[in-house]
Amino acid sequence: MVMGREKFSSRLGFILISAGCAIGLGNVWRFPYIVGQYGGAAFVLIYAVFLVLLGLPIIVMEFAVGRASQKSAALSFDVLEPKGSKWHFEKWFAMAGNYILMMFYTTVAGWLFLYFVKMAAGDFAGLDADGVAGEFNAMLSNPSLMIGFMVLCVVFCFSVCAMGLQGGVEKITKLMMVSLLVLMVVLAINSVRMEGSRPGLEFYLKPDFNKIKETGIGEVVFAALGQSFFTLSIGIGALAIFGSYIGKERRLTGEAINVTILDTFVAFMAGLIIFPACFAYNIEPGQGPSLIFITLPNVFNNMPGGRFWGTLFFLFMSFAAASTVIAVFQNIVSFATDLTGCSVKKAVVVNMIAVTLLSLPCVLGFNVWSNVTPFGPGSTILDLEDFIVSNNLLPLGSLVYLLFCTSRYGWGFKNFLGEANEGKGIKFPVWARVYVSYIIPVVVLYIFVQGYWSKFFA
Ligand code: PHE
Repeated sequence: MVMGREKFSSRLGFILISAGCAIGLGNVWRFPYIVGQYGGAAFVLIYAVFLVLLGLPIIVMEFAVGRASQKSAALSFDVLEPKGSKWHFEKWFAMAGNYILMMFYTTVAGWLFLYFVKMAAGDFAGLDADGVAGEFNAMLSNPSLMIGFMVLCVVFCFSVCAMGLQGGVEKITKLMMVSLLVLMVVLAINSVRMEGSRPGLEFYLKPDFNKIKETGIGEVVFAALGQSFFTLSIGIGALAIFGSYIGKERRLTGEAINVTILDTFVAFMAGLIIFPACFAYNIEPGQGPSLIFITLPNVFNNMPGGRFWGTLFFLFMSFAAASTVIAVFQNIVSFATDLTGCSVKKAVVVNMIAVTLLSLPCVLGFNVWSNVTPFGPGSTILDLEDFIVSNNLLPLGSLVYLLFCTSRYGWGFKNFLGEANEGKGIKFPVWARVYVSYIIPVVVLYIFVQGYWSKFFA
């Protein structure tokens, strides 16, 4: 008997795992703080347009490349490219992207889990807004605590991968995603009904384009591009791999739409939970990565049953982060097995050590190495790693997927379309050919170049 590639047990499993990969820190941590930094609702609008017009077709392409090649990004281009071409060089960027992403992701996932523990222990009880912020800063100055929780995240998520695709990744992620979706709604309702929620809602939902002018439109658009690609997980093959675990029963566009809707729903809810609270407790929305950690404990301090809800919230946020880490680890493990033919166990053990070591600079950047400030005073190693991934590898990698799927020097539009439209469901329209072949690549490249310009030279 020929052993095929392991498959998901159900379509729901596939959708929830792809959504689990997409839904993560990008939605609950990065989205709110970036919206806060770039001025609120007007930014949200640009971001939403990018999700649909730029991101969605690229998800379809990633799924198609994965399903057609039956391989991870480490080999998918080798399988599909015309003989003699060099598309397979992309694998090094895709693999680097997955690793560099994890270099900061595991640290922040660790923060969330630590906050779950602290909430449950009642550490925030009775603290005012300054006291809550003090707790966050105390955590940042304690490297061993952060390393402990980072390692916990790495070990847990790799262990799930070691349990196999159906028995580990699919089962655990499905459970986590469903409970997350329900809890987000409960908390959003609570936050919107809170006293003083109005200015926060206006900031989040009522566009004020003057704010964008203050920062500079080029930089805002660049940030919106980075955030939309980050939240959808496109550009480094992270989603492509899940295409390799499904059959040909469904067309891929419908599946990509499902993933986008779920992802957007969670990000939108996260904003609804955070901004009203932020304004009600006088917390500066533009302060960056610390935003949710110093906003949310205040919300829970002031709500009936807050300790219970707060504990649940941080637990489910940890789930959201973990489902992404598991998905990316699944990629990392397959890179190793695809490239070297080693066993899953060996790939897990070696990468567990590698990812732990690679995650150290981010942790140390907040304390021992805080003199490393890549983007000027106050910036951290985390900012640098995030910038490399979100503003470089994701848009440029997406560009490669776009060109590969549309150019006759690559896999080509015909092959792509054939793969995407195999099965039942929504069709990828043939008329979109010019749009995906020329317009999206030019727009992405333009935003990228001008983004660099306005960030570093203007
Ligand atoms: N989409 C994930 C999140 O929102 C992050 C991610 C980016 C995962 C790129 C994989 C690839 O947290």
